[in-house]
Amino acid sequence: MAEEKKLFKVTIDNITIEVEPGTSILQAARMIGGDIVPPTMCYYSKLKNTGGYCRTCMVKVAAGSTADPRPMPKLVASCRTNVMDGMIVENITNPAVLEARKGVVEFLLINHPLDCPVCDQAGECDLQDLSYAHGTEGSRFEFRKRTFERIDLGPYIQLHMTRCILCYRCVHTANQVAGQREHGVLDRGDHAQIATYIRESLDSEFIGNVIDVCPVGALTDRTFRFKNRVWFTKPVEAHRDCPTCKGKVRLWMRGDDVLRVTGRKDQWGEVEDWICNDCRFEKKKVSDWVIEGPTTVNRHSVISQGHYTGIKKPGETFEPLMHRKPKLLMDIHAVSNVNKVDLNNIPGPATGKTFNGDPLSMGNNPTDVKEGVGRNMAGTDSTNPDTP
Ligand code: SF4
Ligand code: SF4
Ligand code: FES
Repeated sequence: MAEEKKLFKVTIDNITIEVEPGTSILQAARMIGGDIVPPTMCYYSKLKNTGGYCRTCMVKVAAGSTADPRPMPKLVASCRTNVMDGMIVENITNPAVLEARKGVVEFLLINHPLDCPVCDQAGECDLQDLSYAHGTEGSRFEFRKRTFERIDLGPYIQLHMTRCILCYRCVHTANQVAGQREHGVLDRGDHAQIATYIRESLDSEFIGNVIDVCPVGALTDRTFRFKNRVWFTKPVEAHRDCPTCKGKVRLWMRGDDVLRVTGRKDQWGEVEDWICNDCRFEKKKVSDWVIEGPTTVNRHSVISQGHYTGIKKPGETFEPLMHRKPKLLMDIHAVSNVNKVDLNNIPGPATGKTFNGDPLSMGNNPTDVKEGVGRNMAGTDSTNPDTP
């Protein structure tokens, strides 16, 4: 007869759950779900050895275990601390934890630019959400922020270290998923930066996943950058028969254009299945995919403000009222070029000219890559020269 496994009882914010030995406090909290789940910026359950860097998931262990019920003297990182039988944990029920988390957010933002309005990640950025939910309204940091020039990591990915929070997720992804790591964190402390030795491009067919795991706008998709704001796009689930990966993706569409392809993310913002570069960067036609249906978007997300599911279109009123079909004025798309332009055919942003007879013309990206490697010692940020 199989031996019955002993389970550990852990209480988090007054909710008790039984979990297997070896479960971390964070995993136990995720099993309970809801507001008591600590936020995470570096932990990623789909990757090994993540967590322990950002400290946003800190909690108070009010009682270590039934055997030794003393509280732990300091707040602990819940992603790296395993539960013990009889452990009592406080997260949102302890004001000291919330206060400490504010401090962590302030630290994460010390060197972070105030770039959200021009950042490609805005609207789906974990740091943006974290700052709103757990940060303070101001910063006490009065010094010059460190800045870097953008670097193209191969043809598909762009790195802007200025926005990096050094969570190491991309390094673990390159190691464990792409199986070929050519980048890592060089230097330490204030000088630490994600870098590739001698600007090696990262050419593994799974390297595009570093974009999905990056919680901020430091690693972005060069085939999508500044094509659109994420809240104007419509995410749909789609799949294709791919010889390299499972081919299960999320398409970000505008009209009939596939502007971006990403992995599908779960409720914790983690990729469900890693996807290959071919699916991500090369399959940008609707005909490449079998569309499954609209993605369910968390109602708190700015993306859900697009209200594209459950739409009940009002009936046509013109015809019954006017007893005739609408004329040109009501049929503007038939006479403009708006629907004839394929935004995927141009590498930069569209301009008025693009829609007025020259579908391949494009404007300048305000944040185009500038020449230069690594730290920008001039102290300017090419996104915003006024960034201190
Ligand atoms: S990564 Fe971009 S969107 Fe996120 S907080 Fe930084 S500037 Fe804002
Ligand atoms: S580039 Fe992104 S994923 Fe990589 S360490 Fe920086 S924040 Fe994390
Ligand atoms: S998520 Fe636990 S330390 Fe970053």
